[in-house]
Amino acid sequence: MGGERGAIGIGLMGLGVVGSGVARILHEKADVYARQIGYPLTLRRVLVRDPKKQRRFEVEAPLLTTDAADLLADPGVEMIIEVMGGEQPAYAYLREALSAGKFVVTGNKEVMAKHGGELLALAREHNVDLLYEASVGGGIPIIAPLKRDLLANDIVAVTAIINGTTNYILTSMGKGGGGFAEALAEAQRLGYAESDPTDDVEGIDAAYKLAILATLAFHMDAHPEDVHREGITRLTGADFAYARDLGYAIKLLAVARKDGDRVQLRVHPALVSQEELLARVDGALNAVQIEGDLMDRVLFQGPGAGSLPTTSAVVADALDAAVSISNQVYWPHSSRREAGLTVMPMDDVVTRYYLRIGAADRPGVLAQIARALADAEISIASVIQKEAAEGGAEVVIMTHGAREASMRGALAAIAALDGVGGVEQMLRVHA
Ligand SMILES: NC(=O)c1ccc[n+]([C@@H]2O[C@H](COP(=O)([O-])OP(=O)(O)OC[C@H]3O[C@@H](n4cnc5c(N)ncnc54)[C@H](OP(=O)(O)O)[C@@H]3O)[C@@H](O)[C@H]2O)c1
Repeated sequence: MGGERGAIGIGLMGLGVVGSGVARILHEKADVYARQIGYPLTLRRVLVRDPKKQRRFEVEAPLLTTDAADLLADPGVEMIIEVMGGEQPAYAYLREALSAGKFVVTGNKEVMAKHGGELLALAREHNVDLLYEASVGGGIPIIAPLKRDLLANDIVAVTAIINGTTNYILTSMGKGGGGFAEALAEAQRLGYAESDPTDDVEGIDAAYKLAILATLAFHMDAHPEDVHREGITRLTGADFAYARDLGYAIKLLAVARKDGDRVQLRVHPALVSQEELLARVDGALNAVQIEGDLMDRVLFQGPGAGSLPTTSAVVADALDAAVSISNQVYWPHSSRREAGLTVMPMDDVVTRYYLRIGAADRPGVLAQIARALADAEISIASVIQKEAAEGGAEVVIMTHGAREASMRGALAAIAALDGVGGVEQMLRVHA
């Protein structure tokens, strides 16, 4: 290799947690990468908001700019690495970069989940690639395996723990670390949760990532609004204690499952049997389990965030793009779409359930609850009844598989029963 052309010019957008890792590793491993690719990779400009800010890794001051045009209009910038985050202006910049024939590497799940289909089409139109390994699972290789290594399979299901913040909180609640508010405050103190944790604890971030994974796994156009989403804010210490006694962990699961020509897309807390590897993915770790018709199940697990793990994914994509740029050829991955796949309404999803119901401690109440479930053709797998404060009782029921619509109907009937204080919790059980 080597020859006519000079260095491969890179424009870096963002010099925060990930961007500073990328700048540092491109600097520290410059010689290795130059040998690997045949040409050096050179940072030409770095876009930031505040050039005066102190950085984890300081780049030469003249490289910093607050004007995106310094990167986008520079023909010497052949590749944009976008690690700014947020929908805008990142989306507009990526469109502009691809339209100008630049290769793009991004870690932006929001932009890829909302606009990935359009941006990938734009990339193909301009004969360049758009790579986004870091957008799901941080340092875990998952996009590339779905695009290539698992392509011979019909994927049946993707079941993932793809939000480190919530997994950290749930792990701590599972160890008896108190209620949600306490565990969140602790996660914030330790830097695992942001001061505004909404995107994480409401499952918004996980829904973005699930849309990206489902799009690849099922060759469909899945969007964040297609994902049924429930967060973790309603979980209590009591749920964790019961789950533990019953042999389960509680995880925020992101599930995409194909069922005929319909695909379930859902993010919600779920009971996961302690026998399952997913139940043991603890702390800020992420894991993605893929089930295919040929390879059965594979589990990818690792750090779902963090400066260097994410840098690992971003720089791998940059090296991949650099090979295409240096060879002046780029082989697009399959963009096949399965016609006729639709998103399954949540009402039709069948799972097992965990219910926690506050009831009066008097004869007949349990029988009434059981009858309401039986009327909806839901069969009970096990029941725990415990005395609760102020003379009441807490009834915890595990059911066999039932349609969501039937369960909702039964819960409305149970809540209206005389001896029932309220349905305190309904969680799905991961099959
Ligand atoms: N952090 C992780 O572990 C992780 C893991 C996987 C994926 N990601 C994704 O990677 C991206 C970056 O995350 P991060 O944690 O590195 O974020 P961050 O620490 O907040 O850094 C963002 C950087 O982008 C710059 N920036 C933001 N908006 C800008 C604008 N409008 N114009 C110019 N510069 C702007 C900021 O400039 P200033 O510094 O001057 O404010 C900052 O340097 C996000 O899409 C995130 O979802 C992050």
